[in-house]
This record gives sequence, structure tokens and C-alpha cells, in this order.
Amino acid sequence: MKKKLTTSAGAPVSNNQRSKTAGERGPVVVQDYKLLEKLAHQNRERIPERVVHAKGWGAMGTFTVTHDISKYTCAKIFSEIGKKTPVLSRFSTVAGEMGAADTERDVRGFSVKFYTEEGNWDMVGNNTPVFFLRDGYKFPDFIHTQKRHPKTNLRSPEAMWDYWSLSPESLHQVTILMSDRGIPITPMHMNGYGSHTYSFWNNDGERFWVKFHFKTQQGHKHYTNEESAEIIGQTREKYQEELFGAIEAGNYPKWTLKVQIMPEADAEKTPYNPFDLTKVWPHADYPLIEVGELELNKNPDNYWQFVENAAYSPSNVVPGIGFSPDKVLQARIFSYADAHRYRLGTHYEALPANAPINELNHYHKDGAMRFFTNDFGNPDAYYEPNSKGGPEEVPSAEEPPMKISGDVMRYEENDTLGDYKQPGDLFRMFDEGQRQRLFNNIATAMEGVSEEIVQRQLKHFYAADPAYGAGVEKALSDQKGGLDPNSNVRPEEVGA
Ligand code: HEM
Repeated sequence: MKKKLTTSAGAPVSNNQRSKTAGERGPVVVQDYKLLEKLAHQNRERIPERVVHAKGWGAMGTFTVTHDISKYTCAKIFSEIGKKTPVLSRFSTVAGEMGAADTERDVRGFSVKFYTEEGNWDMVGNNTPVFFLRDGYKFPDFIHTQKRHPKTNLRSPEAMWDYWSLSPESLHQVTILMSDRGIPITPMHMNGYGSHTYSFWNNDGERFWVKFHFKTQQGHKHYTNEESAEIIGQTREKYQEELFGAIEAGNYPKWTLKVQIMPEADAEKTPYNPFDLTKVWPHADYPLIEVGELELNKNPDNYWQFVENAAYSPSNVVPGIGFSPDKVLQARIFSYADAHRYRLGTHYEALPANAPINELNHYHKDGAMRFFTNDFGNPDAYYEPNSKGGPEEVPSAEEPPMKISGDVMRYEENDTLGDYKQPGDLFRMFDEGQRQRLFNNIATAMEGVSEEIVQRQLKHFYAADPAYGAGVEKALSDQKGGLDPNSNVRPEEVGA
């Protein structure tokens, strides 16, 4: 039987094509509330796009445990081998707006919402294990350099390199961004990283520091700048086409979840700060431990409802998974839920994309989108504590105490590894072809940037590895058609 068209209040709509007019050729009458409703709804069809990571592609799927890690965590999602948990994943670029081309050089977001029996656990990571900064205080300024210039309304390489050259801790991430990994061919061909150090705790109340790695089973594949330019000339929606198409065709992408585990006390012994987001933990010291498999196997029937309305937040953890003192993580714990309340509305977690699968009992009350009931069968139980049979606290969900020490102050970072060792190590792992593409990508990205900024940034490349600095300097001079007589950076000057 055909479905009857109705207004949003449920009244049948007699005609959805012709406005009501005074006379055959006369003006439209204000009492045509069906026309008014249609236009008014359209005016509200857009919400603010995400301030970062606005362009995205998503799908649903399943996470399956393949190895036992219950000695590290009591999180129910990992309680037994074979256990399956439904997920909603969203991938994204960072800087571009909603209509940006998919294959631009940028970091990619890698978000997974695990709908566990003890609430939603959100892994809001990137395709890189590190980030541009180690203090969340710097994030809004950094993002300003990635977005449009206030006057030209264009992206500004001058701002990007000015900021990066004044923030040496960004070099590790800049090196990854400018390397082959800066343009994955699809979201299916990249790894995902939780990037931060999080914590696990087990049934004995022991805490472990943990890093999450999602390893692609499709293989790493990347576009060069030239290939990506060609793709963008053909389609701006390459990732949507590829991810959506693969899932429709039954070619479900998969990732292997692995973790690095550090005993709590080790954090005081490592030569680097294990909570510094610009650094990785060496795999030789903390090897990857396999945990399970993530498979994406269903396209949402409505992109808006599930991908645009998805609200991921690092603050969404479940018993057995906790935070660490990582300063950027701490800032993110505030920032995301705040962004969601602004972008989607007060009760955004009641939207289908965000609603947990377990029973929900809380005392939050009114506000936008209060389209659910939580009167617990007794309308008198609307405050806490109460003697009216309302929901009660769950003391067993409390995490073990986290040890901290020190005085409250704004600290300078000063671990013994510094900002250059790990980017240098990464550079030294690249083969000749990878190095050459890195040099050229950087030279291209620096086009038009002031000489003073270029010279300041070159010092960082030299400090990571003399061959890194020399390679970029040569690529820059080749780009200008020969050696730059103004160059004042030489390896011996930076003692690299
Ligand atoms: C999105 C803030 C660092 C990964 C966002 C959003 C905000 C934000 C406000 C938009 C949220 C929304 O409207 O739904 C911050 C702040 C950071 C930070 C304040 C540093 C202090 C990071 C880092 C990562 C990351 C280090 C990865 C390791 C993401 C991802 C998204 C996102 C993947 C998109 C989530 C989605 O798919 O909906 N960030 N961010 N961000 N951020 Fe961050």
C-alpha cells in the first residue's frame, strides 16, 4: 500500500506541488501553511559544519575480538575472544570545508564509535601516530593557519610555515604529512591511530598506559601530488565513491586492532615523555599486541543521519579504558562534547548515530531535542539522590586512582629526546624515491613563502638530518631554477 504524505504534524497533504493562490494568477496566500512549513524546514536543513574535519566518509560495521587482553583491561568489549561489537566509523580530512576535494594533501581523521554494552567508546584518531603540537592550548591558533586567510579568503602557506617554523615540535607530523602518506588513495588504504596515550585498567585495579593502532588490511597506497591533481580534475568525491562502492559491492574493508602497552611505572623511566603527542613509543620497547579486527560492512541508508550527525568525543570512554596526563588529550576531553552541544544541540547523544545500545538512565533534563523519555517509570524521580526508585550510582565503575605529582605551573617541555630525533629517524627510514618525493612535496608546499620563514624552517630539517635539510634546500633552489644566493643555512651552522 502506498504511504500517505503528511505534514510534520501528521495532517494529510492534499497537494505538494501547487501553492494556494488568490485567483488563478493571483498572489500566494499566507494561510498556505504547508508551503510555509516546507520552506521553513528547508531553511533549517543545514547545521554548522564541523569546525575541523568537515569533509567525511563513514560506514557501519563490526569489531571482533581475536586475542585475549583481559589481563590489561576489564573493558567488557574485550572480555572474550569472538565477542562482536557494532561500530560506526567516520574518516575525514582536517582543513577542507564540507565541499573540499577528497584527495587533497592533509592529515586524515579516523574515528570509530564502539557501541559497547557499557556505553559508547569513541576512538577519535588520525591516520598519523603523532600530532603537530603537544599542548591543546595551541590548537585554535594552529587551526587558524590551516583555514582561510581573513583577507584573501585563500589557504595561506605563509601562515602554515610561519607557525610550523616557530613550533619545532610540529616537525614529526609535518614530515609524515609531506611524505607519501600525506595522500592515501582511499580511507581504506590507511592506518588509524589513537595517537594519544590512553590507559587501561584491569579487575585488580592495575593501570597500564596504552596506544591504539588500526592496521589496514588493504595495504598502504598513496597518490603523488600529480596523481591527486589529476583525480581532483575528474572527481572531488573519490573517497565517497570508493568507500561506498566497496561496501555496496561486498568488498568490506578491514583493519587489525593492535595495542602497545606500557606498565604504569615505566612512564617515569623512558627517555621521552610517553604522554607527548609529538612522539611515538619505539615498537622495540613496547611491541604491538594484536587484539581484534574492525570490519566495515554497511553503508548507512541516510548519510546525514549517521555520518553528519555522528558526534565522536575522546571523552567517551567506558570502564576499563581511561585517560592519561597527555595535555592535548585533556583539552580534547572538554572540546568535543562542547562542539557537539553547539553543532547538534543539547541532547545530541539521543540521535540515532550517537545513542548507546545499552539502557540509558540519567537525570539531565530539558533542552533542545528532548525527544526521549527518561522518567524511569516514575515521574517523581527526577533529581538525585531520591527515595523514589530513580537510577543509582555504580561504584564498581570507578577507575583506580591515577598518580600525579608536582606543582601547578605552565611548564616548558624538556625531555631528553628533543624535537628532532624521531623526525630524523623517520626520514632515515625512507628510501631514495620516498626522500625525493618528500623534498619536492615540501618545496611545492612552500611556494610563495617569505624567505625568512623558509630559512627558519630549513634549520629544523637540517637539525633532524643534514640530508633532509640539504634535500629540501636543493628542491627549493631547483624550483627557482638554480642555487639561491640568499640561502644562509648550512648543516654545520645547526650542528646537526
Ligand atoms: C574533530 C577539536 C586534536 C582528531 C574535531 C572537532 C573539534 C576538534 C572541535 C569537531 C567536532 C565536531 O564538531 O563533531 C580538537 C582539539 C584538539 C584536537 C581542541 C587539540 C587540543 C585532535 C587530534 C586528533 C583529532 C590530536 C587525532 C589524534 C579529530 C577527528 C575529528 C576531529 C578524527 C573528526 C571526528 C568526526 O569524524 O566527527 N576536533 N581536536 N583531533 N578531531 Fe580534533
